[in-house]
Order: sequence, then structure tokens, then C-alpha cells
Amino acid sequence: MKTARSASGAHTLPGKYYTSQEIFDLERERIFSQRWLCVGLVASLSTTGSYFLAELEGESIIIVRESDESIRAFYNVCRHRGTQLCHEAQGTFSRHIQCPYHSWTYDLSGRLVAAPNMEEGVDFHRGRFPLHSVNIATWEGMIFINLGSKPEPFEEAYASVLTKFNRWGLSRLVPVHRTEYQVEANWKLMVQNYSECYHCPTLHPALNKLTPYRDSENDLDEGPILGGPMRLSKGSQSMTIDGRACAAPFGHLDGDERRLVYYYVMFPSLFLSIMPDYAMIHRLIRRGPRRSTVICEWLFDPEAASQPDYDPSRAVEFWDMTNRQDWHICEQSQRGIDSRAYEPGPYASLESMLAALDREYLAALGESSNGS
Ligand code: FES
Ligand SMILES: [Fe+2]
Repeated sequence: MKTARSASGAHTLPGKYYTSQEIFDLERERIFSQRWLCVGLVASLSTTGSYFLAELEGESIIIVRESDESIRAFYNVCRHRGTQLCHEAQGTFSRHIQCPYHSWTYDLSGRLVAAPNMEEGVDFHRGRFPLHSVNIATWEGMIFINLGSKPEPFEEAYASVLTKFNRWGLSRLVPVHRTEYQVEANWKLMVQNYSECYHCPTLHPALNKLTPYRDSENDLDEGPILGGPMRLSKGSQSMTIDGRACAAPFGHLDGDERRLVYYYVMFPSLFLSIMPDYAMIHRLIRRGPRRSTVICEWLFDPEAASQPDYDPSRAVEFWDMTNRQDWHICEQSQRGIDSRAYEPGPYASLESMLAALDREYLAALGESSNGS
């Protein structure tokens, strides 16, 4: 495999990027309100009217299946006096979304269809008060929203990978397990941690045995989507607690592809990991400069469940252990960076992706270089 591109003398970011409330707020304005953010899976909305709430960046967004073909996203804000329309994290609307305060009622396309005791006339037209909609896109079975008023089209933002994973048939996969982690660390520490395997021999001996850390390649090494494959060691079939596959390999992969595991960061807050027999997504939700939630979901082909070698628990156990090792070191990093003694340190060539991430991040913030 080709070696990682050099980090060319780049250094880690100054401490303020991991600690400052002001920068956290600026990130909301310049990054999290501009970029496409994954909020969950199409498979979670199986019937018309089923919904879940995406709670992120200080907003509550209703993600609802309007029909077989259409999923919509609305701010969870009534057009009468602003009350939140629903507070259950997930559920099913019959055919309407009704405000619990004065019963203003919206259909699943967001139109206000009833407003009791409000007379249609010069002062009031129902047609003028639809729910505020949020930009939405789906790709490979995942749902993305964009809080911006004029977002970059999803197809442009994701151009580098739009058809890249077709052979895996990711959109068929269904979530089999979900774990939510609370991590006392800045979101970027998790993004950076995911983007290098320099730490693998020290922190993840079990993972490093399955995929030796130097056997990796970055096939996307600049821009908002970064990552590439790692090669499974001889005798290992997948990333599981014992290295054996836990489901039949995805249908359209050739022999060599069944030896690779793919890892991509979709900046800012999604990680996509593809094993030969299952996939996994991590979504980061920012809670504060030093606090994040990570939601991890394990995805399997629904047909795999009928096969004899199907055992997702070995994949779940392996990654839950690895996740906890990672979050623990991210928390320890945060505490060190909080110190007055912290200063930017040099990246190794194995951390070239971190230098690329910092470039993407600083450009998005409107700061052209790492001004340490
Ligand atoms: S605030 Fe929703 S109906 Fe009054
Ligand atoms: Fe790790």
C-alpha cells in the first residue's frame, strides 16, 4: 500500500480551539449551520408518519416520513406562539402534527391545516404559516440535514464519495445495535482520534492485531471527506472480538476487497466504517467546548440474519471496547490541552490526515492557516 502523505511540519491546533466558548459558537455559525449533518438512518422511519427528533446545535428538528418516497425535516416550533410541537424522542404521527397548546394542526408536509378559532381573513391566512422546513438529503441509507439558508447542494458536498460505496449496497443495511456515549472532550479530538492509527499499537492491541497500523492507505487525503482502507492481517476476516466474520461478506466485493476495512471522516461530524460483513456509523453531537455525545450504530444486511454465521454481538463487543478506549484517551487529551503548559506539538507523518483536517477546519472557520 502507498504510504501516508507527509504532515509537512504541521503542528496541532492552539488550545483555544478546544476550550473556548467563543470558538464553539463560531463553529456553530460557520461549520455546523453550513455543512450537511447526518441525523440518523432512513431505516428508522419505516411507516408514513414515523418520526424522530434530531436534537443538535441547540435546535430540535422533527424528521418525519411524509410518504413512501419522501422524508421531511421541520423545526420543532409551532407557528402560533412558538411552542415545541413534540417532545417524545421518536414515535408516529397519525396523519397530522398537532400542537399541544392551542391545537394548531399541520399535515406531514408541514402545511397548517387547522387553527381553531382563527378566522381566515385579512389578518390571517393558514397558508402563510407552514412549519419552517429544514434542508434534507438522503444518501446510502443515511439522513442528512443542513441548517443553512442556502446550502451547498448535497451532491456537491459529497461529490468525492457519491457513488464510491455502491458495491456495498449500504442503503439496504439496517441498524442492529446503537450505543450512546457521553464524552468529556471537544468534538475535534474525536475526529482526530478517528483519523489516525498511530495510537493503535499502544491503545488498541486487539485492533492492531486485526489491522496492523502501518497497513493503511488514504484514498481521500484532502477536503471535507478523508480516509481510506486498512488491510486485515492474515487469518483475520473482520473487526470482531475474535477476528472471525460475524455475517456473510457483502455481495459484490471481490476477493481482495474482502480483505479491506474502510474508514472515512465526513467532516464535521460523521464517521463511516465499512467492514467486509457489516458497517458502522458514529455521529458526534456537540454539547459544549469540552462535552460531546457520540452515537454509534452497527448496521447489517437484513438478509444476513438468516445465515448460520450471523452474530452481531462479536462486532458490537469489539467496537464498544475500542470506542471506550478512544473516548477515554480523548478525555485525557482534553485535560492536558486545558493546562497552561499545553502548546501545539508536531504531527507525525502517520498523522497527515489530522493536518488535512485542521486545514479544512480552519478554512471553514475563515482562518486560513494554523496560526500557532
Ligand atoms: S403555540 Fe401552538 S397552537 Fe398555540
Ligand atoms: Fe482509536
